[in-house]
Amino acid sequence: MAQRGSPSSVTTQALVTGGAGFIGSTLVDRLLAEGWRVDVVDDLSSGSLANLGGARALPDRKFSFHRLDIASPAVIDLITHRRPDVIFHLAAQIDVRVSVARPVGDATVNILGSLNVFEGAVAAGVKKVVFAGSGGTLYGNTPDEIPTKETAAQAPESPYGVAKKAAGDYLHYYRQQRGLESTILALANVYGPRQDPHGEAGVVAIFSNRLLERERPIIYGDGSQTRDFVYVDDVADAFVRATEKGGGLLLNVGTGVETTVQQLYDVMARLTGFREPAQYAPPRTGELARSALDPSRAELHIGWKPFTSIEEGVARTLEFFKGQRATR
Ligand SMILES: NC(=O)c1ccc[n+]([C@@H]2O[C@H](COP(=O)([O-])OP(=O)(O)OC[C@H]3O[C@@H](n4cnc5c(N)ncnc54)[C@H](O)[C@@H]3O)[C@@H](O)[C@H]2O)c1
Repeated sequence: MAQRGSPSSVTTQALVTGGAGFIGSTLVDRLLAEGWRVDVVDDLSSGSLANLGGARALPDRKFSFHRLDIASPAVIDLITHRRPDVIFHLAAQIDVRVSVARPVGDATVNILGSLNVFEGAVAAGVKKVVFAGSGGTLYGNTPDEIPTKETAAQAPESPYGVAKKAAGDYLHYYRQQRGLESTILALANVYGPRQDPHGEAGVVAIFSNRLLERERPIIYGDGSQTRDFVYVDDVADAFVRATEKGGGLLLNVGTGVETTVQQLYDVMARLTGFREPAQYAPPRTGELARSALDPSRAELHIGWKPFTSIEEGVARTLEFFKGQRATR
């Protein structure tokens, strides 16, 4: 069953850390649809079982859920016991502000927890780890070129960014010295259904909820700051494609296109028929002025490119949040 980017005739058993989260659960659904068997490890600190409703309803033993903190060494035993072919490592403390306030707590999950996952992978003879890195924080606030290539200097400016970089550096070590294959995906600003609209990140989710409430969303600054918005299904596709190719590489997963927050607002206001302007608040300190990731290396090495336009992705996201409100 060779589908888009699927190596499922060769590797069929996956373990997804953070699989109850926004991106992780989308990836789980994609893997299950392609016939993989999937284990999810998640402590439900920000994810939710509701995101795995479809997966948990499957009749056969294709899916199992393990509520576990990756900072606990028990995760090593679990991986050794389950022996997956591929580990998709997405579990993380994802809030940059939390990492600034509590760097030790951030590192406990994002560095030490990652090390547990990698140690488990080596012990279990896992064929590959595909890791969710962060493009926005990896290259820092002032990359020389936009869209930014993977060859740009790495200069994270938050404990979260430092921890993500460190986990990537560890993967390099594990590949060189311990024979563990890996690919690091540097994700741009991922958006889509299931993103938490109550967090600090996820402007599309936050705007969606406000607009559907018929309340004016807040733009911090004048709206000219740019982001690279990439749709979650496209990101799941990159994870699947990276299972068989791109070993040892850092690959940007973004559109390469800069969209201003004002442009995003205009598209979303139009799609929801909202005629009022946004509210404007002072810019947040430390926020990136511009961000876009050049995805050409991912196209070259794993045949990936984004396939969902921002209009289409935003429309689908709005539909999702509309549906959620209808069932509340
Ligand atoms: N959303 C983005 O735009 C974006 C951008 C760059 C990188 N990433 C990375 O992608 C990954 C997924 O992010 P997301 O946006 O889906 O966030 P999310 O919060 O929805 O998913 C993270 C998941 O990890 C779980 N988790 C957190 N700490 C854990 C722990 N100690 N043990 C086990 N599970 C734990 C959470 O419960 C959650 O289900 C993260 O690694 C994040 O850093 C996301």
